[in-house]
Amino acid sequence: MRVFLLGGSGILGTAMRATLPADATLLAPGHAALDVTDAAAVDLLVSERRPDWIINCTAYTAVDAAESHEADAMRLNADAPASLGAAARRVGARVLHVSTDYVFGGEGTRPWREDDPVAPLSVYGRTKLAGERNLQASGAEAVIVRTAWLYGAVGKSFPRTMWERAQQGLASRVVADQHGAPTNARDLATWCWALVAREARGVVHASNAGQCTWADVAERVYAAAGKPGLVTRVSSDEYPVPAPRPRYSVLDCARLESLIETPRRSWEAALDEFLSDLKQRSAA
Ligand SMILES: NC(=O)c1ccc[n+]([C@@H]2O[C@H](COP(=O)([O-])OP(=O)(O)OC[C@H]3O[C@@H](n4cnc5c(N)ncnc54)[C@H](OP(=O)(O)O)[C@@H]3O)[C@@H](O)[C@H]2O)c1
Repeated sequence: MRVFLLGGSGILGTAMRATLPADATLLAPGHAALDVTDAAAVDLLVSERRPDWIINCTAYTAVDAAESHEADAMRLNADAPASLGAAARRVGARVLHVSTDYVFGGEGTRPWREDDPVAPLSVYGRTKLAGERNLQASGAEAVIVRTAWLYGAVGKSFPRTMWERAQQGLASRVVADQHGAPTNARDLATWCWALVAREARGVVHASNAGQCTWADVAERVYAAAGKPGLVTRVSSDEYPVPAPRPRYSVLDCARLESLIETPRRSWEAALDEFLSDLKQRSAA
């Protein structure tokens, strides 16, 4: 199986490379080698290499910056999936594309299912939704994996920021009225490879199991760092940021559960493993 991985240096891309199945041959051009917003370059490389799968882990992920950089976010989150889809269709490749819980509006009271109505609140959410739709309209065989609150071995993420602040003994004010479920990139990567093996199609929700608030995550990180008591729980109104976030963005992952063999780990177990890796690295 020839796999064309885009965004291989990011949080998810790094985990995808670390969990590569034995039957996969990887082509993973970095950003410098291939700008995914260059449709002609994408088309040329895809038609030369003729992959079986294109896995798109690129995105404009700076949720707050996207509010003032809509055109950049649109090029990467919405236009690039359209050209990837078109290139894939021309060579008969399948596409695994990654999207977000932020396509939902946040007024829900039960976990969001794949076919629930979307209503993104932010530029990031709107551009990601446009990317889903553009890919679906391209006619390529595609699976779209919506995930949430991602963190992993590399890159900037909320648990890592909390860990670094705890290490420095810094207190943090953290919102306690937004509900979601964090996702360990290694778990997500394993599920993505399982979806590839199953040749899954359509939309699939994927996060670790359970639900919590950002403040719950922060408290767990600070406790693991041996610095409990430094997290103050605040409301979203007390912590203004440029991009509005959904109050409730827990994903219903029943479809994923039906497509993978091992049940999803709880968000606590997955986070604890990440924290123990960080601890070992800072002790080394
Ligand atoms: N992070 C989250 O909390 C979160 C939550 C929900 C959904 N998601 C989704 O999950 C997916 C993976 O996100 P992530 O957090 O792993 O992303 P990330 O860490 O921000 O990585 C993005 C990747 O895209 C590459 N890239 C950026 N612009 C590019 C361009 N023009 N051409 C080629 N490559 C480019 C980056 O390379 P350079 O660094 O070299 O530019 C990097 O490898 C995305 O679809 C994202 O929307 C993320």
